[in-house]
Amino acid sequence: MSRSFPVSNSPFFVLAPMDDVTDTVLRQIIADCATPDLFFTEFVNVDGLQSPGRPQLLKKLQFTAKEKPIIAQVWGKNPENFKKTAQELVDMGFAGIDLNMGCPVKAIVKNGCCAALINNRELALQIIDAVKQGAAGKVPVSVKTRLGFNEKDLSWPGLILKQNVDMLTIHGRTAKEMSKVAADWESIDEVRKLRDRIAPQTKIVGNGDVMSRRQGLKLAKKYNLDGIMIGRGIFSDPFVFSDSSQWFEFSREQKIRLFIKHVGLFASTWGQSKRPVHVLNKFCKIYIQDFDGAKELRENCMKVESTDELLNVLDAAL
Ligand SMILES: Cc1cc2nc3c(=O)[nH]c(=O)nc-3n(C[C@H](O)[C@H](O)[C@H](O)COP(=O)(O)O)c2cc1C
Repeated sequence: MSRSFPVSNSPFFVLAPMDDVTDTVLRQIIADCATPDLFFTEFVNVDGLQSPGRPQLLKKLQFTAKEKPIIAQVWGKNPENFKKTAQELVDMGFAGIDLNMGCPVKAIVKNGCCAALINNRELALQIIDAVKQGAAGKVPVSVKTRLGFNEKDLSWPGLILKQNVDMLTIHGRTAKEMSKVAADWESIDEVRKLRDRIAPQTKIVGNGDVMSRRQGLKLAKKYNLDGIMIGRGIFSDPFVFSDSSQWFEFSREQKIRLFIKHVGLFASTWGQSKRPVHVLNKFCKIYIQDFDGAKELRENCMKVESTDELLNVLDAAL
């Protein structure tokens, strides 16, 4: 176990990894609104990173000083690639390495990765071992997973806890449940109790359906958790990590100005040619909602072909 866990407060709040959502741009926006204690990258495939496809994937590992401390989340199949990538991530300045063992996306599971590891424990253990070797005790190694594959199966988190990882994030659903049912915090509590018995030094982070810091604090207290991870909550409140979010009092103009900031940062970070403006559509609804004319403005935003055009539409709406 590494001695250098990057966060000392308790409970700590973590921005969840969300593929194609929590890139460096979104993380900087969230950091400026109300910063979490810990950031994660989107998940990055180690087999792709150690292949000619590497340059494209390196974009997912881009971060700025604002997004620190940041943990790199990786996934894949080949332990050697995990080991090599872990060495590289240490050199890139990441504060930790997290292993995705929970993503239930069909194509990924079919390929034996992420949540499929719940049913291939031998490979899961080889991967943890390879990453520990690659990290060489220089940064913490952690796992993010679910309660089981088809059913809750506490032998799974129990096995992970026996590996002496630095942190275990439990998303309170099985892989089969995807996101279709409410997160089961009583089961997260059972995993925390397992932790108390098996690996008291491992931090436990609960995840699933948390929509505010206040709700997260209550859950952390009730279930005695070290940390709370929030993902989709940012879509309804980009200030979700704040003690007293002002978001619901934001004026139309304040919301539009925050979107302008997001678009500007997107343009300066990625450039029009590297990432199409349509990637921003999924963020539009964060800002352009709950005011008169929001629907029409959203429709106009989605018609544009460039970030310059989008900025013109937003400027004109001010
Ligand atoms: C669009 C999207 C992308 C996601 N990508 C990842 C990912 O790359 N790695 C990961 O561990 N979980 C990923 N997740 C799962 C989230 O990290 C989190 O576990 C899940 O959304 C439940 O938390 P929430 O209710 O706070 O959103 C993703 C979820 C969403 C909605």
